[in-house]
Amino acid sequence: MVAVMDNHGWDQRFADNPQHFGAGPNTLLERHASELTPGSAADVGCGQGRNTAWLLGRGWDVTAVDFSEVALRHTREAAQAAAHVPDAVAEVAVSEDEDAQAEAGKTPKVEVSADGGETAAVAHVPTLTTVQADVSEWHPEETFDLVVAAYLHLPAEKMAATWEHLVEITAPGGTLVVVGHDRDNEGNGPKDPDVLFHAADVVAKLPETWTVEVAEAVDRGEGSIDALVVATAPKK
Ligand SMILES: C[S@@+](CC[C@H](N)C(=O)[O-])C[C@H]1O[C@@H](n2cnc3c(N)ncnc32)[C@H](O)[C@@H]1O
Repeated sequence: MVAVMDNHGWDQRFADNPQHFGAGPNTLLERHASELTPGSAADVGCGQGRNTAWLLGRGWDVTAVDFSEVALRHTREAAQAAAHVPDAVAEVAVSEDEDAQAEAGKTPKVEVSADGGETAAVAHVPTLTTVQADVSEWHPEETFDLVVAAYLHLPAEKMAATWEHLVEITAPGGTLVVVGHDRDNEGNGPKDPDVLFHAADVVAKLPETWTVEVAEAVDRGEGSIDALVVATAPKK
């Protein structure tokens, strides 16, 4: 049994549908991140950008990471579409600074900005940085106020190492949100138990100094069960 798809498999899955997992954000992320003060966020395994677009619309600067080229193209398109959401953003400018992009190994930075109308009170211009990388090989120099891994499923050993890495890139006082298919899930999603997890598996990788806000199995009905962990790093 193939446990996980490679980037080409995801490219193919996403090719014909820019909203394979729907348009709106994941409801659990929405529930637990809505009250956070926007800052810098990393959306790891961002897929087609539904969560990234939502975060941008709330004023977060988002670094969206995925190894699928098609996913990142759709993420940039979703960010631009978010520019038409009332109360969020009204204009999109794509940076032409290709030298800087090449130097950083990143694809175009999209700046999502407010216009001078009713959204003028939004002083901050949220930015999107897309990074094409295998998450297990992505080692950013910066840390993030919010780190999101939604439905990122890797073989158990690699997954555990990735969670430890996500802890490292969470800024002091920052929040880590991990949501994925629970090992007891009987709905859509991977069936190989090696790539599924319980919330407790994530919690086991958190340093003792962290605060676990939520660690639970969320029954979404019709056999769909998610594992959810929301945890905050110490402020230092
Ligand atoms: C099920 S989708 C979830 C997408 C998104 N987080 C969401 O909730 O809609 C999983 C995503 O993780 C990406 N992915 C899987 N393994 C990866 C890896 N090792 N490195 C980078 N991206 C990976 C896939 O390309 C895909 O876009």
